[in-house]
Amino acid sequence: MRGAARQSGRHRFPTSAFAAEMGNSMTEMSTVPWWERGVVYQIYPRSFQDSDGDGVGDLKGIEQRLDYLVELGIDAIWLSPVFPSPMADFGYDVANYTGIDPLFGNLAEFDQLLHAAHARGLKLLLDFVPNHSSDQHPWFKESRSSQDHAKRDWYIWRDAAPDGGPPNNWISDFGGSSWEWDQATGQYYLHAFLKEQPDLNWRNPELRAAMMDVLRFWFDRGVDGFRIDVLWHIFKAEGFPDNPINPDYRPDMGEKLRVLQLHSTNQQEVHDVAADFRSLADDYGERLLVGEIVLPLEDLMTYYGRERPGVHLPFNFQLVEAPWDVAVLRKMIVDYEAALPPGGWPNWVIASHDYPRIAAKLGEAQARVAAMLLLTLRGTPTLYQGDELGIGKVEVPPDRVRDPKELREPGIGLGRDPSRTPMAWDSSTNAGFSSIEPWLPLHEDWRTRNAAAQHRDPDSMLSLYRTLLKLRRAESALSIGSIQMDQGSEHVLAYRRHHNTSRIQVLLNLSGTERRWPDRTEPGDLLLSTLGSPPPAGWLRPDEGLILRLEER
Ligand code: GLC
Ligand code: MG
Repeated sequence: MRGAARQSGRHRFPTSAFAAEMGNSMTEMSTVPWWERGVVYQIYPRSFQDSDGDGVGDLKGIEQRLDYLVELGIDAIWLSPVFPSPMADFGYDVANYTGIDPLFGNLAEFDQLLHAAHARGLKLLLDFVPNHSSDQHPWFKESRSSQDHAKRDWYIWRDAAPDGGPPNNWISDFGGSSWEWDQATGQYYLHAFLKEQPDLNWRNPELRAAMMDVLRFWFDRGVDGFRIDVLWHIFKAEGFPDNPINPDYRPDMGEKLRVLQLHSTNQQEVHDVAADFRSLADDYGERLLVGEIVLPLEDLMTYYGRERPGVHLPFNFQLVEAPWDVAVLRKMIVDYEAALPPGGWPNWVIASHDYPRIAAKLGEAQARVAAMLLLTLRGTPTLYQGDELGIGKVEVPPDRVRDPKELREPGIGLGRDPSRTPMAWDSSTNAGFSSIEPWLPLHEDWRTRNAAAQHRDPDSMLSLYRTLLKLRRAESALSIGSIQMDQGSEHVLAYRRHHNTSRIQVLLNLSGTERRWPDRTEPGDLLLSTLGSPPPAGWLRPDEGLILRLEER
């Protein structure tokens, strides 16, 4: 539409249309919304910085570390939940959507943090958890008080099956039936996660209105947007049919995958609610909605919106699952780009508080290459705290396990504690994270692998991240330019980024062996190597990634 209007304008008024075009390209960087240019950094508040000596991170702690984030070069922070919670799922069980848990601080401290972030040019996103509340939320307490209570229908209650068992075969993501029997009122309630996390009923208009008010509450305080927890879960098929049995299920996958979540997730009604979230966000100006959605590509794309716009960024988790293989990654990037709807802005996630750390998965050498990939792809990247230090595998001894997922289905690698261990700031006691023993253990090599030590070392992971982020900010080709995947070679992933006349090439050696540049690689000037010093001409050293400036065009 805009293109067509401009063209007809040019036809009729050539001079002024030309001037408008020039103006456009010069101001383009500043007119692109902040979240398209920007980089998001996920903070897991329990583990970022403790300020009050209770071994758990808090809001004041985050505020103390804002300058570190500015120096790192990110644009926005997303805080995992900080709301009042019994912490059965470490904050993803919310007992009050419009407060702050005393463990983390209070509303005044939140306002102060938001102000301090804004004063430094940082945006702040909160985590909105619409699928379920805590069973300690007053709404649920009222809902479970009697079958006739006005809020009964705010949650999902069903009679027992004729044999007295649960209403259907749905399985919780943390194992076991999704239904919990309530003796007092003689019905089951639904919980997609823990029984302490009852699912809310988004078909109820009052609940819907109450949750919209939650968003208004935080937007009014000035937050810049939300990451929306398990957005694809919020509607369930009417009639609650059984889910199909998963033919590929193996016990080492975790019980959740016994069935396919066909009827318990991804119902079309979700798009109407997402569109309501979006229009509310748009009413407030340039606010960002990121949706947590774990679905195949085609379904994922529908969350950009159908009749009406949906979330700005449906999280793209493909890098988390993908094998580290050139052909696979290349196809994944090409397919993702091709599937984007018109105007849909891409995004990439490589790790989070739910998945293994990059360096644990790939080793430190390839984790450097992964950092270069994440920060040079087209689209908004989300970094996860601690990955910039290259924190790798962490052994959490059995008596220190805290994650309910690991506690309920132990020993099959589902546990998320190893990715949630505290940040290491320096080599002082408890790594400068806390004055007492932290709630989860630190990584073993924290005395050398910490922010202070890496700050001093130009070859450290932290220095690499800082340089990459600086380059991305300086080069519009990297932040907002187009992408073209090159053929590459068996072990070298190759692509080019392009904006106005500026062109940049990225070559990533995904192997631990020296490799030649792929055939027909354009020569260019070296902007950055993951290994620091320049490589021999025409070669990539083992585990090396390169960014090259190509001749302008
Ligand atoms: C999301 C969160 C995860 C949580 C779950 C239930 O996937 O990222 O940490 O356990 O939702 O809220
Ligand atoms: Mg604390």
